[in-house]
Formats: sequence, C-alpha cells, structure tokens
Amino acid sequence: MNTLTTRCVAQTLNALHAEAEIADREHIAGRIAQIETAGETFAQAVPRWLTEERAGYQQIYRGYAGNFLAVSPAYGRFLYMIARTCWAKRIVEFGTSMGISTLYLAAALRDNGGGRIIGSEIEPSKAARARANLEEAGLADLVDIREGDALDTLRAVGGEVDLLLLDGAFSLYLPVLRQVEPFLTRGAVILGENAFDPTYLDYVRNPENGYLSQSLAIDDGRGNEFTVRTA
Ligand SMILES: C[S@@+](CC[C@H](N)C(=O)[O-])C[C@H]1O[C@@H](n2cnc3c(N)ncnc32)[C@H](O)[C@@H]1O
Repeated sequence: MNTLTTRCVAQTLNALHAEAEIADREHIAGRIAQIETAGETFAQAVPRWLTEERAGYQQIYRGYAGNFLAVSPAYGRFLYMIARTCWAKRIVEFGTSMGISTLYLAAALRDNGGGRIIGSEIEPSKAARARANLEEAGLADLVDIREGDALDTLRAVGGEVDLLLLDGAFSLYLPVLRQVEPFLTRGAVILGENAFDPTYLDYVRNPENGYLSQSLAIDDGRGNEFTVRTA
C-alpha cells in the first residue's frame, strides 16, 4: 500500500482530474483553434506565447483563474515515483494551481517519512483551493503554499532542495531556476512541465552549467524536460 492509492487521496485526485477536464476543455480547444486559424505550427506559436507572457504574465494568468492547467494522471504518477526514487525531503513547486501536482508530491513525501513542499501560486483563489484540496486528502501538514509571484515568494526557500517542479508561467523557468539553484542538492531533480522556452532549455542542456538534461517521453508535445543537478 502507498499513500497515493489510499482511498482518500485517490478519490480526491480522481474528482479533481475530472473537474479539470471539464474546466479546461474550452481553453485547450481555444489554443488549438488559435494555432489553426493563424496557420501556425505549434513550434511557431511558442515564441509568440513567450513574447505575450513576457509583456504581462500576471494579467494572462489572472485570466486563467478558473482553469486547472494541471498535470496529467500519468505525469502525476511519475511525480510521485520520482520523489520516492530520490528520497525527496524538500520540494519546491513553481505553479501550484489547484494543487493536483502538489497532491502527488505530498503523497510521496508522506511515504518518504515526511518533509516539506514549498508551493507558489500567483492567483489567490487558486492557492485557497489548493490548500482546501490538500486538507481534504489529509496531506496539508506537508505543504506550504506561498501566495504571490514566485519571483518574490521563492526568493528564500530556507534550505536544501531535492526536487524542483517548474510548472508556472513558461517564460519564468530560467529566472526561477536561477533563484532556487544555490539551494539545489547535488543530484537534485528539476522537472520542467511545458519547458518550451529555448533560453531555459539551452541553459539546462549545457553541462557547463552543472546539469544533465533531456526531454522526457511522457505526454508527448507537452514539453516535459528531465534535468539532474550534477555539480
Ligand atoms: C500549469 S498551471 C500549474 C498546474 C499545477 N502544477 C498542477 O499540475 O496542478 C500554472 C500555474 O502557475 C501559476 N503562475 C503563473 N505565473 C506565476 C508566478 N509568477 N508565480 C506564481 N504562480 C504563477 C498560474 O496562476 C497557474 O495556476
């Protein structure tokens, strides 16, 4: 038995994934339609999204207050397994949303014997919902969700970090990584979900920066990058 498959956690996750599917259907269809209408490929759309985000990610994510934009169940299970594999004790998450990914990570911490997840969420209503979801699953004691811009809230993470999940504004992966970098343990895992920004990918794929990195074959097309801190 493990915490992820206990009735309480599994029921909370199943209900949230179902709710997310409905809440995000229109958003995903809209994105696909936008690409088709513009006659763009996905690769051509990415630089445009990054430019739009850089001009005002706060406003863009305010507009997604009702969206989950969550990891898939397959990626969530991977999060649980990788946190178990590396015996993570301290985890930082950029982009908590309603707490789906956080639930998978918190279940792993429980089975690792305890620890702390420092989450970050810019949208107050989402941070409140994430806290309630973690409470419902009995995992709230493992999580500190910091409300506000991660560029401020993740400035001081208060100790070593074994696992970093980057799943917030696409254009901020490199600045958030650089902020947390001094706290990463040797061998720490950094997971980029929707890691599309070439400045981020160039950085973590250059061994001179103290990382080894490659794309991860889960949820093809979602830009999943798997990185290990080697230095
Ligand atoms: C893709 S969703 C995260 C999904 C979540 N990890 C999950 O799987 O359930 C991205 C989230 O990052 C948040 N976000 C975007 N920019 C942020 C920032 N600068 N600081 C903190 N949160 C941010 C958004 O409000 C949004 O809820």
